Amino acid sequence: MISFDNAAQVLTPPEPGLRYLRSDRAGEMALEPGGITIEHGRIAALETTQDADIHVDAAGCALLPGLVDCHTHLPFAGWRAAEYEQKVTGVPYEEIARAGGGIRSSARALRETPDETVLAQAQGLAGEMLRSGTTTFECKSGYGLSTAGELRALELASELSEIVSQVTTRTGLLAHAVPEGYTTSSWMDEVEAMLPEALEHASALDIFVESIAFGLDDLDRMGRLASASGVRLRAHVEQFSTMRSVPVALKHNARSLDHLATIHPDDIGPLAASECAAVLLPGAEFMGAEATAPAREMIEAGAIVVLATDANPGTSPIFSLPLIVGLGVRRYGLSTREALLAVTLNAAWVLDLSDDLGSIELDKRADLVLLDCPAEHIAYRLGRNPVAATFVGGEPAYVRPDAAWRIMER
Ligand code: NIG
Ligand code: FE
Repeated sequence: MISFDNAAQVLTPPEPGLRYLRSDRAGEMALEPGGITIEHGRIAALETTQDADIHVDAAGCALLPGLVDCHTHLPFAGWRAAEYEQKVTGVPYEEIARAGGGIRSSARALRETPDETVLAQAQGLAGEMLRSGTTTFECKSGYGLSTAGELRALELASELSEIVSQVTTRTGLLAHAVPEGYTTSSWMDEVEAMLPEALEHASALDIFVESIAFGLDDLDRMGRLASASGVRLRAHVEQFSTMRSVPVALKHNARSLDHLATIHPDDIGPLAASECAAVLLPGAEFMGAEATAPAREMIEAGAIVVLATDANPGTSPIFSLPLIVGLGVRRYGLSTREALLAVTLNAAWVLDLSDDLGSIELDKRADLVLLDCPAEHIAYRLGRNPVAATFVGGEPAYVRPDAAWRIMER
């Protein structure tokens, strides 16, 4: 039994059993002094317990649910730092992509890199994420760009789940860039054919809808495939250009629409009224000098707003959710509670895991992050890692050396 004593702030939802909380209600999240007790890897009491065998001195600390990163492109191979330099000196992403850079260059790297090397890189990055408080993350395929390549990426993602501390999920981003020799629709035929094997690993399907990638017809088809297979539809939409993907995706009950930097104003209301999360990616927006998603309008309209890293070697080589929270707060004008809700309960709901994790509630998994400061400091001290310790399933999976004194056996 572990007792967390004397925290300056414990983040809890306004009532138990919420699968998500619409972001206009984020102010109802409590951030109050207190403690909790965990037993057998679960939250056993929303108060401290005197006779616990381990006590965590949380004085001055915020205690949060483990952070959930519901949009990453792990596993991938190598990096694309030279491209970033091109980008910041003025070469547009579309031009880099058309010249064989972008997604295609990561696809080449993945093809040429042995499994062990891909897994070692991803495992290292998962370690970085753990040290930044991420206890659950999503993996995507999408750098395979062939049937064999996409299936291999999903298999590697399944193998990754065995060697990292976190809970992970897998999404088949089976339509990411149009592979050489295909049209969008002939590639969608391949997607349909590989689906039975892909869905041995993946619990959701994803597609990149953009002028340089797939179109609305392909999104519509992916939506039908997802419904027919009983898996979640997610989609990369309205990142660079306004394609009006939102109505099409909502027709297929998409679980989330991600990016949305250039969402059409008329699509905000329907998205906010639906049971579909708006996953905003301020890291990609910042690194790519993209448009800024109208987050405040979405929140005020009652959308289920989520923040994620979009961790990938191209548009967002960022793996820290505290940094994403800081960018979200500054760029979108989010309150601390809005940003925290967006990387915990609502993010867990996108991955269909909010029944078991994503908030500090009785009987949920004891995935917890202990900050060495109040929660408001995450955004305020931008770029600093505030994580003192990360607990996964009730076990300390990471303890920063200077915070080790806080964990005492009795
Ligand atoms: O989410 N937008 C498309 N896909 C990724 C970028 C992938 C890449 O550039 O490697 C994204 O931003
Ligand atoms: Fe992405």
